[in-house]
Amino acid sequence: MPPHRLTNADLVAELASQGVETSDHWIVERTGIRARHFAANGVFSSDLGLEASRNALVAAGVAAEDIDLIIVATSTPDMVFPSTAAILQHKLGIAGCPVFDVQAVCSGFVYALTVADAMIQTGSASKALVVGAEVFSRILDFKDRTTCVLFGDGAGAVVLEASRTPGILASDLHADGKHVGILCVPGHVSGGQILGDPLLKMDGQAVFKLAVGVLEDAARAVLAKAGKTEADIDWLVPHQANIRIMRSTAKKLALPMSKVVVTVDQHGNTSAASIPLALDSAVRSGQIKKGETVMLEGVGGGFTWGAVLLNF
Ligand code: ACO
Repeated sequence: MPPHRLTNADLVAELASQGVETSDHWIVERTGIRARHFAANGVFSSDLGLEASRNALVAAGVAAEDIDLIIVATSTPDMVFPSTAAILQHKLGIAGCPVFDVQAVCSGFVYALTVADAMIQTGSASKALVVGAEVFSRILDFKDRTTCVLFGDGAGAVVLEASRTPGILASDLHADGKHVGILCVPGHVSGGQILGDPLLKMDGQAVFKLAVGVLEDAARAVLAKAGKTEADIDWLVPHQANIRIMRSTAKKLALPMSKVVVTVDQHGNTSAASIPLALDSAVRSGQIKKGETVMLEGVGGGFTWGAVLLNF
């Protein structure tokens, strides 16, 4: 997480000074969010991704030179091109391995993990660095109280390694592009100018309704693919957008909330970074232990959604 932390009280005061009215009570009650972090000016997704990557490499006991694939999930890349993954590769001081970004908004990390797993299984890579990194504060409209209180910045990373014992048991990815309009940043660069609105637009209720339905479907599909049931899940690590969506998913899967990793209260919605940040928090705090079965679930703009079931 970038060091600058804003509690709801901090954000409420900042927004009030610009004539935008909200409250800690509304934000906590509707979302479960109590604080988020914002990156300082000049800090990019690749910078946050670099910190997370270094921590992941240390935790995995893998040298950066041994990484032979980098995938960065982000919707807030440093540049239009090249990829944030290429910039990150250079910042890590390595060269030669394939690198690319995956753009699936808040489902980006489960998409990236699935692609890395497939490339390892086909022998295209043996040690992959998979990163979710975002600076969503850059695309927020701070005059729109229905969205600007929800998001934060951050990055998380994992190292995946080829093994005879599968870590990733199954994945299930989906998208439906007819819902592009309910969650988007419609602007684009053309002729040296930004055409259209470059700030995030969201129909919160439409997103909410879709999210609770598709997350249940993806969870059941990935369990079926792996030949497992809800009872086999030790931990659910869902995309951290809204505590009410997480509670609803847990209820539908008959999982107690004690098995759900929740960091949305401290991070807000960090889009593609939210799942690896939550995973990192749960592993480092000793919640998730070696050998446990973990389900990751993402949902976001596109509309995209998916789940990954893994043996930690
Ligand atoms: N502070 C105070 N009041 C507010 C605020 C705010 N920040 N925002 C909205 N309100 C008001 C509205 O104006 C409305 O007032 P009204 O009844 O007088 O018109 C009232 O609160 C209720 O607004 P709703 O939009 O109906 O509130 P809802 O209960 O639906 O909660 C929320 C809104 C939190 C956005 C919810 O719909 C949600 O979480 N949706 C899913 C969002 C999500 O998960 N997005 C991320 C997807 S991941 C990705 O790809 C980026």
